[in-house]
Amino acid sequence: MSITQTCHLEILQRVKKINYAIDATCGNGHDTLFLCQNLEREGKVFALDLQPQAIANTKLQLQRHDISQDRYSCILSSHDQIQSVIPSHLHLKIEVIMFNLGYLPGSDKKITTAWDTTQKAIEYAIKNYLSPNGVMSILFYPGHLEGREELTRWNIWKNTLNPHCKIEEISNPTTSSLSPVLFVLQKTTC
Ligand SMILES: C[S@@+](CC[C@H](N)C(=O)[O-])C[C@H]1O[C@@H](n2cnc3c(N)ncnc32)[C@H](O)[C@@H]1O
Repeated sequence: MSITQTCHLEILQRVKKINYAIDATCGNGHDTLFLCQNLEREGKVFALDLQPQAIANTKLQLQRHDISQDRYSCILSSHDQIQSVIPSHLHLKIEVIMFNLGYLPGSDKKITTAWDTTQKAIEYAIKNYLSPNGVMSILFYPGHLEGREELTRWNIWKNTLNPHCKIEEISNPTTSSLSPVLFVLQKTTC
């Protein structure tokens, strides 16, 4: 099973239903598609990425799978601007938020997530958007330099999120130190 499949399973095991979700790095749209396919009837997914190519790829992915346009909104934005692009009436109402970090596969590897903006977005999203008992997945790719930096800084910072969040590392003991690392966070209080 791929790490993204594991991530999807771990999310589904923790949430009862998804009315609203955010894909904070929509890339090629695989995670956005997963979220759309698991939404309640009237639900909505907000998919963010700072690259126009990623937004185009995500829209194409959703169209190919006949996802109704009412079910998603693809937004060209950095996730550290989340407060200006996700409506404030959804504060504390988003059941799932996904951060699949790194660069767009098959594209410019220099355009990658970076810790300062990642941390700002994660912190704001947990505090203001994630619902009580809501789930956030964060997938790190330490196989590249910026990804290693993100993972190192996260491992220090994540301790400050206690006791408001339960954080689990979903690891595969057989993989190397350069393999992707998945964390699943569940908000326990708000
Ligand atoms: C590993 S890919 C995401 C894969 C995607 N979730 C999927 O299912 O195909 C990482 C994405 O993060 C995007 N990204 C990098 N920095 C970002 C930022 N500050 N805000 C939003 N997206 C960003 C990249 O453009 C890239 O498309």
